[in-house]
Amino acid sequence: MKTGTKALTWAAGCALTLLSANLGRAADAAAAKWTVGMSQCNLGEPWRVQMNADVKREADKHAELKVVYKDAQNDSLRQASHVEEFVRAGVNLIIISPKEAAPLTPPVAAAFKKGIPVIVLDRRVLGQDYTCFIGADNKKIGRAAGRYIVTLLGGKGNLVELKGLMTSTPGQDRHSGFVEGIKGSGLQVLFEADMKWLEPNARTEMESALARFKQIDLVYAHNDPGAHGAYLAAKAAGREQQIKFVGIDALPHEGQVYAKQGLLAASFEYPTGGREAIENALEILAGKPVQKEITLRSRVFTAANVDKGGEWLED
Ligand code: FRU
Repeated sequence: MKTGTKALTWAAGCALTLLSANLGRAADAAAAKWTVGMSQCNLGEPWRVQMNADVKREADKHAELKVVYKDAQNDSLRQASHVEEFVRAGVNLIIISPKEAAPLTPPVAAAFKKGIPVIVLDRRVLGQDYTCFIGADNKKIGRAAGRYIVTLLGGKGNLVELKGLMTSTPGQDRHSGFVEGIKGSGLQVLFEADMKWLEPNARTEMESALARFKQIDLVYAHNDPGAHGAYLAAKAAGREQQIKFVGIDALPHEGQVYAKQGLLAASFEYPTGGREAIENALEILAGKPVQKEITLRSRVFTAANVDKGGEWLED
């Protein structure tokens, strides 16, 4: 074949591929009866990547649903404008996992008052102006972690608490639940800091704790990246064998692996709720009523039970 003919054949091939891709997209759009806007506060943490994957896996089963994703990159102002953009674009429903409660409350309330159903996922907003909230009970998880730690340490010892972002509701609840869980014991919290859910912050805070306190028995971190950051700081100081670590999230490829390796004494599961968000979105779009508050269950994972699928927290 002459070079010119080859080039023509190649160009025709490309044009055909493009055409069929466009036709495919048009078919998708035609099939999708509903557009859902999914506002994620960040995709820098494994748990959030998992949440979007859970949303997508469930949504992909429903040709009538098209999900548009926005990532606010951990910026509440950007996330507020994403919600406003969804409203302007006329989406049929919004799912939001908000970074912080206060700054995301007005845009969520505005969308809801305009008649757009809003599902709030994992972190809460303030007030009642949304359609439904889906998430696990963070206070219960914090309380269970506290009680577990009391038993693990035989009722006494020195603790470090590395908190999640305290302007977000899971951070507040995981703290207050934990305080309840250790109440009356001989445990003492020597050092507490807000690591804002981020592993590098947890590592830095733990370095300060290690520099100040000779005897630390356990670190309670509000998520597994935080617990892992603390572990790395302790390891760098040669003190990881003397300290126990407890975290929250228990993703199969993160916290559950750490628990199995013995790096974490325990990880408490925080389900993403991605599947349940889509299930409830479909109900709402079909005009059916849903519960205002949907509470997901959690399990605790330790080296002893991880292969058996963990153990459910009691109700
Ligand atoms: C991810 C994350 C999780 C945590 C959740 C709380 O951004 O920090 O690790 O469990 O958010 O909202």
